Amino acid sequence: MKFFIDTAEIIEIKKYVEQGLCDGVTTNPTLIMKSGRNFEEVTKEILKIVPGPVSVEAISEDAKGMVKEAERFAGWGKNVVVKIPMTAEGLKAVRVLTKKGIKTNVTLVFSANQALLAAKAGATYVSPFIGRLDDQGEEGINLVAEILDIFENYGFKTEVIVASVRHARHVTDAALLGAHIATIPPNVMEKLYRHAKTDEGIDRFLSDWKKAKK
Ligand code: E4P
Repeated sequence: MKFFIDTAEIIEIKKYVEQGLCDGVTTNPTLIMKSGRNFEEVTKEILKIVPGPVSVEAISEDAKGMVKEAERFAGWGKNVVVKIPMTAEGLKAVRVLTKKGIKTNVTLVFSANQALLAAKAGATYVSPFIGRLDDQGEEGINLVAEILDIFENYGFKTEVIVASVRHARHVTDAALLGAHIATIPPNVMEKLYRHAKTDEGIDRFLSDWKKAKK
């Protein structure tokens, strides 16, 4: 499973690139706002640092506007993926962009039918938001299972990015289902390699080593 980092924080991105754990990055208007940086400036910086795909979100509400934004973003780097919201206008834009060879990530997917429509439109990626489904009392991960089954039934090449990941178990569940990608926020990345028993074991070995005959 590929790991995308769900952030616009340069320090965090650099950390996971150095660890070899950053296969790509996803951003959105909220993450750009949180970074406190200028959208174009920070996006171009991320595109240079990251060896893989970087999702950059279009904010227009009509297909024409989305295509215009996408063409502008595509000029910023070969690894640009344009995030398009899951709407009728968004799907129109995806069709046009696919024909132009511009990669797309259909975002804010909350049902299997939405994912099916996005794949039919030619989306490179779809992003089911599992944490937000959990928030309203559903099992978000079930949506990922349905989408993967549907894509396999018809041989769609569209890859599934498990998004809105809130905790480490989401990552395990995504991997168990064979999802192509999970986009993971830095706070969850930290929890993937930490375990209280690992820390305790290291402390014990270090303290015993001090007492050992050398
Ligand atoms: C995905 O591309 C989104 O940026 C992100 O996963 C949204 O997550 P949230 O529900 O925690 O905002």
